[in-house]
Amino acid sequence: MGVPCCRQPKLTPGFPNPCMAIRHTMERAHSVPVLSLDKLYQPEELGRWLKKTSEYAGNKVGFTVEEKIDGASIVLYYDGGELLCALTRGNGLVGNDVTANVKTIGAVPLRLSEDVTLAARGEIFLPLGRFAAVNAGMEEPYANPRNLAAGTLRRVKSSEAAAVPLDIFVYEGFFDPPAATHREALERLEALGFRLNPSAGWFSEAGDRDAVRRAHPSWTVGGLADIGGFLAAERARRAGLDYEIDGIVVKVDELAVRERLGATGHHPRWEIAYKFESPEGVTTVTAIEVQVGRTG
Ligand code: IVH
Repeated sequence: MGVPCCRQPKLTPGFPNPCMAIRHTMERAHSVPVLSLDKLYQPEELGRWLKKTSEYAGNKVGFTVEEKIDGASIVLYYDGGELLCALTRGNGLVGNDVTANVKTIGAVPLRLSEDVTLAARGEIFLPLGRFAAVNAGMEEPYANPRNLAAGTLRRVKSSEAAAVPLDIFVYEGFFDPPAATHREALERLEALGFRLNPSAGWFSEAGDRDAVRRAHPSWTVGGLADIGGFLAAERARRAGLDYEIDGIVVKVDELAVRERLGATGHHPRWEIAYKFESPEGVTTVTAIEVQVGRTG
């Protein structure tokens, strides 16, 4: 039996409590398994995936398209509006409890504007403008902001984590009862005090585009044929952003359609990552150090 990490949330049946320690106090089970994303690299592949997915849903489906932030994945669990615990993705079933360090991030709400019980997924990142300054003061500098963000979450001393000005974009919310659409979940998350990435898009042949424009003035809104333009615009924007992205994530908006599509053991069938080509660089190997691992 696991032991509770902190006060037990009152959850309705079917919304399991994640905060149970597994092997030692740092590892805890996720209430909803955190699967991976299936990936595509070619625009034609994305076109085929969109066609197949919307045909399956009777062409009445909308897609939310978001930037794929290159940071450290996090799941935040709230009970009665209070931050209960923050777990890394880990192996998707069990993550590391990094609550104390996450609490040092100013953009993570410790208390929500309503007493709700929910899980929110997002990406913790270090803005590029802050990375150079922080990394210069590191005893062992990190290769990139993603590694520094992930390393900071693993710090034993929260005072050291607090010295790194991390940021967060939340991109998924699990409510009880659930929101009918991803769009609605994002709107609720924002109203509760979470920081969302304003750069996103919503594309559909069927829904009320004006209503989406009114609710999300910063979003790109259009039909399915406009997703290619959004993708090209994101690729062009990438170099000028103050945070790193490595692609876009295309997600079915309607939760009922998501449930019908389901998941493989590895990834949901209702969302896909379109990955940009990695920025190229030349690496020089200056030395190779051979070590014996823990198990010999
Ligand atoms: S949805 C963990 N949406 O990409 C599954 N993921 O394996 C969540 N990521 O480490 C998939 N931005 O943390 C989603 N807007 C976004 C994202 C996003 C970054 C990360 C995610 C995971 C990786 C995919």
